[in-house]
Amino acid sequence: METPSAGTPIILDIGSAYTKVGYAGEPKPRFVFPTITGTEKYKSVMADVSTRSIYVGDDAMKMRGVLKVSHPIQRGQIQDWNAYYEILNYIFYSLLRLDSLAFTPILYVEQPFTARETKEYIARVLFETHKVKSLIMIPSPLLSIFSVGLTNGLVIESGDGTTWIVPIINGTIYEPAMQRLNLAGMDVNQNLKALMMREGINLSSSAAEEFIREIKEKNCYMNLDPNIKPSSYDDKFSYPMPDGNYMSMPNHLLYEAPEVMFNPSMLGYNIMNVPQAVIYSLQMMSNEYWADLLSHIIISGGNMSYSGFDERLKSELSGLIPQLGPIPKPASAQSVKQATKLQSLDITAKKEDTCPQCGALVDLSDGKENCPNCGASMRVTQLSFESDFGKSKEKKIKPGKCPYCNKSIKDLESSFCPYCGKNIDALEVPDAQEVEQALEQANAFGGAQEFTKFYEPSEELLKLYIPKDLQFAIFNGASILASIPSFQSYFVAYHQFQTDPNYLYRDISDILNQGS
Ligand SMILES: Nc1ncnc2c1ncn2[C@@H]1O[C@H](COP(=O)(O)OP(=O)(O)OP(=O)(O)O)[C@@H](O)[C@H]1O
Ligand SMILES: [Mg+2]
Repeated sequence: METPSAGTPIILDIGSAYTKVGYAGEPKPRFVFPTITGTEKYKSVMADVSTRSIYVGDDAMKMRGVLKVSHPIQRGQIQDWNAYYEILNYIFYSLLRLDSLAFTPILYVEQPFTARETKEYIARVLFETHKVKSLIMIPSPLLSIFSVGLTNGLVIESGDGTTWIVPIINGTIYEPAMQRLNLAGMDVNQNLKALMMREGINLSSSAAEEFIREIKEKNCYMNLDPNIKPSSYDDKFSYPMPDGNYMSMPNHLLYEAPEVMFNPSMLGYNIMNVPQAVIYSLQMMSNEYWADLLSHIIISGGNMSYSGFDERLKSELSGLIPQLGPIPKPASAQSVKQATKLQSLDITAKKEDTCPQCGALVDLSDGKENCPNCGASMRVTQLSFESDFGKSKEKKIKPGKCPYCNKSIKDLESSFCPYCGKNIDALEVPDAQEVEQALEQANAFGGAQEFTKFYEPSEELLKLYIPKDLQFAIFNGASILASIPSFQSYFVAYHQFQTDPNYLYRDISDILNQGS
């Protein structure tokens, strides 16, 4: 594979199950490997490999039977730092075969809500141990939304460890309404395993976890209506095992396993399911955003890949949206929709720019549109927007509403809704201080307008944006962003970080503002 030119940013997305690594400007990661490490359990058994003591990724997966395996990232959090360092070494020096990172900017994909200490510590490791040239850390939902060319929308991102529901307005995450569910791909694996064990299937081999995941990724699908048995319900599904035999199980397990995303109680979890979390997130926002967010739902992450997932999500959501109450038609709706497409930057406004193809600095003052060096068009695609969000005065956030019956709950300490009696314990209803903060932040995003027109709360209102390759949508968004010439100035150098770590928190919606 061709080596990219020096200075091309590297993208790192170290997920709970899979690490994705590659270069800016490329649509897919160059390397995808399981985020695991292994150390030898029995030294004497492994005489032929005595020189190595730590295995990473696919090597660790192949030899997991004789290794003590670590999953350093669990539910998106780094739990085993030594294993995490090994993964970084493996990426930079074994996979990418770099001698030095002194010329390499890094775009690091971070989980939303990463603790400040963790974020700054990761930056230190990259700057001080690996001596990277520069760094930017971006929360994954912003990259998911960039991958479909929008800057306003509701991102539903589900990987192996966590599912995030994230409203994004003008390229900025609206944090008070963001929801995190510890319900994702690993829970589907666990559900499939439990269902198979109930059928009496023997899953004692060390390869069991691996083929459960394989069956899931290749064969599981979503049933549109869980109350209707498909005609294939009683058919048998058989799968070849590593020993040459076939394992047989009832076909219905294939759609019952991912059903846990809509029914977490299958695994005994007392938490919201995905569509409930979407409604709850919207209830934490001013109603003026509802219509726009519902008509710009972006799904992303490997665990959204089941065929039929989007239809099922739509159908469940349309059953829940009446709980929101009247959904106003904002006057700004049209302008937001038109403006959130990828736009061509008006190059006549620029005096010079870097060629997106060969990197030469091109003088644009004479009106030329092509690079004199390589002939490439200088009309680079930039993300751009304009909208009326944030222009009105009052607030209408409803942080204390029951997601089941939509009534306002005054006693935020209560575990049960006083109107419908449903358990709201697991809904993580914010405390009074958080509510106050949410209200203050809601002000910053604008508030209610006087609405006279409302939408019918129907499925028509819902529009899903589905990236081509869900598991790599985050990588793809990062790749687009990191290859925009004017984005290069957003990378933070070590001396800047040393002077002020707040450089790491720079709002990247600035780049959108620049383009508009
Ligand atoms: N075709 C598929 N069908 C169903 N599930 C899939 C498919 N492909 C991948 N997955 C599942 O998606 C999950 C991995 O997705 P992804 O790489 O987005 O997560 P991650 O980044 O490792 O985890 P997280 O973001 O939660 O830390 C795994 O559970 C994997 O089994
Ligand atoms: Mg991920």
